[in-house]
Parts: sequence; structure tokens; C-alpha cells
Amino acid sequence: MSRPIPVGTIAPSLLSADFARLEQQVTMLMDAGATVMHVDTMDGQFVPPITFGPIVVEAIKDVVHDRGGILDCHLMINDPARQIDAYVKAGADVITIHPEATQHIHYALNQIRAAGCKAGVVINPGTPVEAVEPVAEIIDLCLIMSVNPGWGGQKYIPQATDRIRRVRELLPDNVVLEVDGGISLDTIDAARDAGAQLFVAGSSVFSAPDPVAAFAALQARVA
Ligand code: DX5
Ligand code: ZN
Repeated sequence: MSRPIPVGTIAPSLLSADFARLEQQVTMLMDAGATVMHVDTMDGQFVPPITFGPIVVEAIKDVVHDRGGILDCHLMINDPARQIDAYVKAGADVITIHPEATQHIHYALNQIRAAGCKAGVVINPGTPVEAVEPVAEIIDLCLIMSVNPGWGGQKYIPQATDRIRRVRELLPDNVVLEVDGGISLDTIDAARDAGAQLFVAGSSVFSAPDPVAAFAALQARVA
């Protein structure tokens, strides 16, 4: 059975973590109360940067699962359907994929669920929110991007707030709405009030002088 997706919480994004001390960074946030770790895979094709894949997911799996957390794997890669099995084996609990990168999005989302994982579709800032409609009944989560995918530390796009509100109206109540990009103490209230339930935060947590305090301050806004 796949683990339920927590809501009303911050999902620290490892993209901004110190990779020389990855286990320590993950442990620190889990011990601070994180229940979702957001893991960004980029392939140098769908988005220009290259990050990491299932090997790194596997490396942190036990630290996260042993503390009752889940691994939220955001695949910014072309043809993600080819990688589903590898991510499931590595310990992914949620796999999110982009319709622009996926030849058969409905089929691929079903494949993720059939493999025992929670399935999510990602809506880019330039993609109509209506793209969620054809798959709304077969997803567990919708990830709305509030920056363009590819880089941490970008500014929250103000139009995202209204798009969160609109996509929420298109989603069944049981589908979790996650927001990703530019989430900080300055932007999180708007995203929360518009209906987001799970909040990815990379640079505002890991680039802060005290990541645990930064996590706690954000968490207090949404818990
Ligand atoms: C961007 C990634 C994000 C990124 C967010 O393509 O999907 O998850 O880590 O970083 P911040 O929170 O710094 O905008
Ligand atoms: Zn992400």
C-alpha cells in the first residue's frame, strides 16, 4: 500500500541542499518535522540542467521512510514513462510528470499507480490549467509550477496565485494540490489562501542561515 500524501506541510526541495552532506541535510529536516522530501530530477533535455536520478533517491530512502516521511519525485525529464520502474524500485512514493514531456500522459499516470505509487501531473506556468481535466480522475496530486521548471531560487510568478485557485476548482476534493517555485515567507500565504496544500521550498529552506528555523517558520504558516 502506498503511503498517504501529507497536506498542510512544507516539502523541502533537495535541489538547494548541500550535496556533499546530503544524508545530514535530509536527516536534519526530517528530525525538524518534515514529512515530505521533494526530489527534482532534470535531464538536460526537458530542462537545461542535469541533477540526479533514482540512485540518489535510493540513497536517502531509508532516512526518509524510517522517520515516516515520503519521497516526492518531480521528473523534469523527457519520456518519464521509461523511468517509472526505476523510481518505484528506488523508493519513490509520489511521482509527478509533465504532460509536455510525456507522449501518453493518461497512460503514464495509470502506469505510476499500477506500480504502487501515487501519481501526479505537473502544470507549467505557460500551460493552461485545463490540461489537468483529462486526467483529474486518475491522479492523486497536481503540482502547479509557480516558476518555470529547471532552477531553484527563482521569483514566484504572481499569476500563479490565480492559477492555483482555478486548478483547485477543476480537481476532485481528494486530489492534493502542491505548489512549486519561489515559495518563501513573502509568497506562501497567497498560495495557501488560493488553495495549495503542499508547499515545495528549496532555497528558502536550504539557503537560509538556519534551515531548520526557516523550515519551522514556513511550516507555521500552513500547518
Ligand atoms: C524547479 C524545481 C523546484 C525548485 C524550487 O524547477 O522544480 O522544486 O527546487 O526551488 P525554490 O523553492 O528555490 O524556488
Ligand atoms: Zn520541483
